[in-house]
Formats: sequence, C-alpha cells, structure tokens
Amino acid sequence: MSDPKKSDPNGPYSDSSDAPARPSFAMGRSGAESVPTKPDPMKPDAGTSKATDYGRQSSSTARPTRAGIAPSAPAAGTSGGSGEAEQLPPGAQVDLSAAQADSGIEEVLTGLDDELVGLDMVKTRIRELAALLLIDVQRRRFGLKGNRPSLHMSFTGSPGTGKTTVALRMADLLHRLGYSRKGHLITVTRDDLVGQYVGHTAPKTKDVLKRAMGGVLFIDEAYYLYKVENERDYGQESIEILLQVMENNRDDLVVVLAGYADRMDTFFAANPGFGSRIAHHIDFPDYTIDELFVIAEKMLERDGYRFDEETVPVFREYLERRMVRPRFANARSVRNAIERARLRHANRLIAAGGQVGLDDLVTLKPEDFLGSRVFAGEGPEPGDEED
Ligand SMILES: Nc1ncnc2c1ncn2[C@@H]1O[C@H](COP(=O)(O)OP(=O)(O)O)[C@@H](O)[C@H]1O
Ligand SMILES: [Mg+2]
Repeated sequence: MSDPKKSDPNGPYSDSSDAPARPSFAMGRSGAESVPTKPDPMKPDAGTSKATDYGRQSSSTARPTRAGIAPSAPAAGTSGGSGEAEQLPPGAQVDLSAAQADSGIEEVLTGLDDELVGLDMVKTRIRELAALLLIDVQRRRFGLKGNRPSLHMSFTGSPGTGKTTVALRMADLLHRLGYSRKGHLITVTRDDLVGQYVGHTAPKTKDVLKRAMGGVLFIDEAYYLYKVENERDYGQESIEILLQVMENNRDDLVVVLAGYADRMDTFFAANPGFGSRIAHHIDFPDYTIDELFVIAEKMLERDGYRFDEETVPVFREYLERRMVRPRFANARSVRNAIERARLRHANRLIAAGGQVGLDDLVTLKPEDFLGSRVFAGEGPEPGDEED
C-alpha cells in the first residue's frame, strides 16, 4: 500500500489537542479582525452547528506570521526570527539567487526532475509556480500588499500518471516557500467527505478540513462528489462547505482536485464555484511506452533488481499488451507488474533450490514476466483490478 493516502506526517490530529469538539475551527481569523461569517449558502445544516466560517485554528502552533513567508519559511532553515521581517526600503535590492537557495526549493525541483520520468509540461508548470511564489515573497519584503496568489489547483490525468506523487512534492514546495504552514498532504475521496445519512456529511467534511488545514487537501476523483442525477445527494453539502473554505481559508489551505480530465470538465461546468476558485490546471498525460520502460528501469534500480538481456524485449511486449487492456494504470501498472515479477522470481529460485549468487538474486528473467496473464490473453492482471 504505497499510495500516500492519508499520509499526514504530523498525524491527523496533530494540532488539535482538543478531542471531541470537532468543528472547533469555527473561529474568526486569528489576530486580524474577524471575517464576518458568510451567510451559509446551503440549506439549514441538520445536526451540526451553524459554524460555517472555518477560520484558522487558533492553536497557533508554529505558524509563521504573515511576514514569515519571507525567505524564512520554517523548512528552509533560515532565520527570520519571529517572522516579522523588516520591511525593505523602496531603494533596496534583493538577491533572488540567494532567496532561491535559502528556500531550498531547488532541491524539490531537481528531485522532481530526477525521479519522475517525462512529465515535462508538469515540471515546467511547477517551476513557474515556484517562481511566482518566490517573487511574491520578495514583493512582500518591500511591503507590497495584496492577496497572495491563488493556489488551488486541479491535476487531471489517467490513473498512475503521477498526480499524487507530484502533489506530495508540491506540498513540500509550498511549505519551503512559506505558503503552507505544515506542509502535509491529506488525500481523500468522496467516501471520506460524504456521509450516508442525514447530518453525517458536514461533520465528515469538516473533520477532513480540520486535518488538512495548514497543508494541502488532495481530493481524488473529485467529480464523484457531484451526482448529476440527484441534486439532493449529500455530496452537494460537502461541495458547499468545501467551496466556502476554499474561499475563506485560502491563505491556510490549498485544495487540489484530481481525476480524469473529461469528467473534471463536466464537474467544473456543473459546479462553476470550483472552476472559478481554481487557478492552476495541470494536465498529466499518459506515458508513452518508452517512458513506461524507463519508469520500470528506475523502479528496478531503486529496488535492487535488473532485467536480464533477454528480459528487455519481453517486458516491452508485456507493456504493449498491458497498455491496451482494461484497467491499465500507467506507472502504477508498471509497479504492479514488477511486484508480480519479483514474486515469480522468488518462487522460481525457491523451486530450483540449491545454491544462488547475487546475480540470481537480482536478475529478473523472461519467465518472470511470461507467467503473466497478459501473455495468456486472459483477463486483467489481478493487482490492477484493485486500482
Ligand atoms: N513519471 C514517473 N516516473 C517514475 N515513477 C512514476 C512516475 N509517475 C508515477 N510514478 C509512480 O507510479 C505510481 C503511481 O503514481 P501516482 O502518483 O500515485 O499516480 P496517480 O496519483 O496519478 O494515480 C507511484 O508509485 C509513482 O511513484
Ligand atoms: Mg493518486
């Protein structure tokens, strides 16, 4: 289970020592004047309080002040003291290279370049966004005011194209630049947000939002929140809460909606509130067979395996066949294929018994793939059915 689902490094309730009173974020924006609670656009909220202003959590644990988004983002390890950076005089100069180096973002960006095969457009978009934020930080150093750039995003693409992986990197990047207080990512789907009964949805959604505050909320297959055929579906209630928080708490929560491009388009068309709140649409194309092959090589290298010379064409053929079969999931299918090949490899060695050397232990042979159902022309590979 390497899906980073719910991988909140801080633990889900890290900043809430308070236990049962869950919608505890019903408080005005800390410090500054309280933002008036927007009239609840939705129906009377059955069973839960009227608390719809998800002001920031008051427990200001380690929250850098606004000015703290200056190059003193916590993860960057630079100073910044209390975060109240001195405002620079109009004639001052800032060293962009130093700011960039201090922020530590280059590490994340080169990490993306090195570890992820292909995705050139995605990488470019992330670099552009990093540049935008780095400049925004510098502008604030001069006291330039204004809303911070809108950061809600949509990541569209087929399964296994790297959306979750990139979102994790993005969360790290935002943290280093000071645009994410905690830098964590929470991955959810409809089931985590929407209840089965009246009164269950609002608390569920609010609970997720509470966990996500200060970080990134990644909503996978976001369009399942909306059911065209049933406008009183509980998903609607969740959508309305999400929309309000995306607006009111845009300084403390970044929402990433992920899923297939065409369904997402339909979803945005039916829910214009989402479309208008999302500033960055990033598309993740399907991988070519050559990219999938390189992805496989990277995975093998990381895990301490390699292909035998004769295995190379067999694996290519495996990919060709697998790509046109049901439930093909790009890089995830590659990973699954390798995992199954490792299983066959181990069983092959055990069955043969006797002496083995390092070479035997690391080398995947053609038969480790030829045993796949893909070559037998049967149904999809078992592992991929779960994707
Ligand atoms: N470009 C890539 N290079 C290397 N590995 C990748 C790439 N894209 C995805 N992967 C791997 O494939 C798997 C599925 O990726 P994931 O980010 O979960 O896809 P998605 O969220 O789009 O379904 C992960 O193990 C990930 O590390
Ligand atoms: Mg995913």
